Amino acid sequence: MAEVEESGKLKRKLDEEPDSISIKCLRRDSPVENDDKTANKDGEDQTGDGNALHHETESEEVPKKKAHSEDVAAHYNKLEEVGLEQRSTSRIFYLRNFNNWIKSVLIGEFLDKVRQRKQNITVLDLGCGKGGDLLKWRKGRISKLVCADIAGVSVQQCEQRYQDMRNRGRQNDRFFSAEFITADSTKELLCKKYRDSNMYFDICSCQFVYHYSFETYEQADMMLKNACEQLSPGGYFIGTTPDSYELVKRLEASETNSFGNEIYNVKFQKKGEYPLFGCKYDFHLEGVVDVPEFLVYFPLLEDMAKKYKMKLVYKKTFWEFYEEKVKNMEHKILLQQMKALEKYPADEGSRLVSQIKEDYEHAEMFKKDGKAKLPFGTMSKLEWEATSMYCKQCLKIPEIVIKFLSNMHMFA
Ligand SMILES: C[S@@+](CC[C@H](N)C(=O)[O-])C[C@H]1O[C@@H](n2cnc3c(N)ncnc32)[C@H](O)[C@@H]1O
Repeated sequence: MAEVEESGKLKRKLDEEPDSISIKCLRRDSPVENDDKTANKDGEDQTGDGNALHHETESEEVPKKKAHSEDVAAHYNKLEEVGLEQRSTSRIFYLRNFNNWIKSVLIGEFLDKVRQRKQNITVLDLGCGKGGDLLKWRKGRISKLVCADIAGVSVQQCEQRYQDMRNRGRQNDRFFSAEFITADSTKELLCKKYRDSNMYFDICSCQFVYHYSFETYEQADMMLKNACEQLSPGGYFIGTTPDSYELVKRLEASETNSFGNEIYNVKFQKKGEYPLFGCKYDFHLEGVVDVPEFLVYFPLLEDMAKKYKMKLVYKKTFWEFYEEKVKNMEHKILLQQMKALEKYPADEGSRLVSQIKEDYEHAEMFKKDGKAKLPFGTMSKLEWEATSMYCKQCLKIPEIVIKFLSNMHMFA
């Protein structure tokens, strides 16, 4: 069960078995569907702990809120494409590369899993942005890609990037086919927009996107539907999203409603109450993100995913994932190739990203330890702090479930 303190803090031991959480949505406009596995037969809340995690009385008057998706789309549409040169001078150069490495390894891992049983791999990139993962799909030798995003300008840039990549390739190169869709995945059914409405995917990749959907139950459910309903048997839903435990922990430790450092800042409206949906915070990351996001309570996402016959394969924080994957030589080499960590100490004549000594205290301690071979890879304290807010997840449709559609116990 989810563990909740009297003060209403969102807290749960991560090593516990996934629990079953039922919700009555405070901001729900329509009743729970009958097949909604997040509610019991009577649509009753099963947590029974009477605190802020609940979406209590439906009779409570809740003013209708304007959806934030338009702001999100406007923000990403405005975001300019930054060239390699400009990017390399950014204060978060290594942080961005590190996050990109995480995505590369994650995507590679699940492409390998799918390839063990089939060659022609189809992928849905949900919230594709400007196509930051196109190269990963190319390297992964997939056959077909569908890119969808709410921000029309980003989708156009993504398509252009794809065309450029294709044109640069050799004529005989086998290149994946692609289609591009502008749509709000929290409100529209994407399958209605596919060229082939019977399109099925082996992987749905949702990188740094899912948290935008947790504004309401309906939006989160629609995004999940788009992510999972068109998955083939054995297909995976993989992604990265901020870790709600870490966010709440940092907020509770802060004296104000916000926390962060010089490169990132997170501001909540209040402390101590964390509704399951619509728990908004403003997230600012230097030059990249400055938009409202919503807390994703992971056990709830996991429970909601059961409706689409999904089973959690794993959930890890970025740090856990890094520690595990870096042991593999191929991943370690990729880390260097992608410049995902900063060389410490810096080469003669070059400078570290930050000139503040305290930002590398951890590296200095590691160096003094004598165990590390010099130089080694690290990031400044500020960047580690920003990236350790994230976790990544992978959900899977076990093959057996599709064959025995209605039998939930088949994959318990
Ligand atoms: C942080 S960016 C990540 C882009 C890309 N996945 C990547 O990893 O480079 C978040 C993306 O989610 C998209 N997004 C946010 N809300 C969305 C929605 N409701 N439907 C579709 N895309 C959405 C934004 O437009 C933006 O491109």
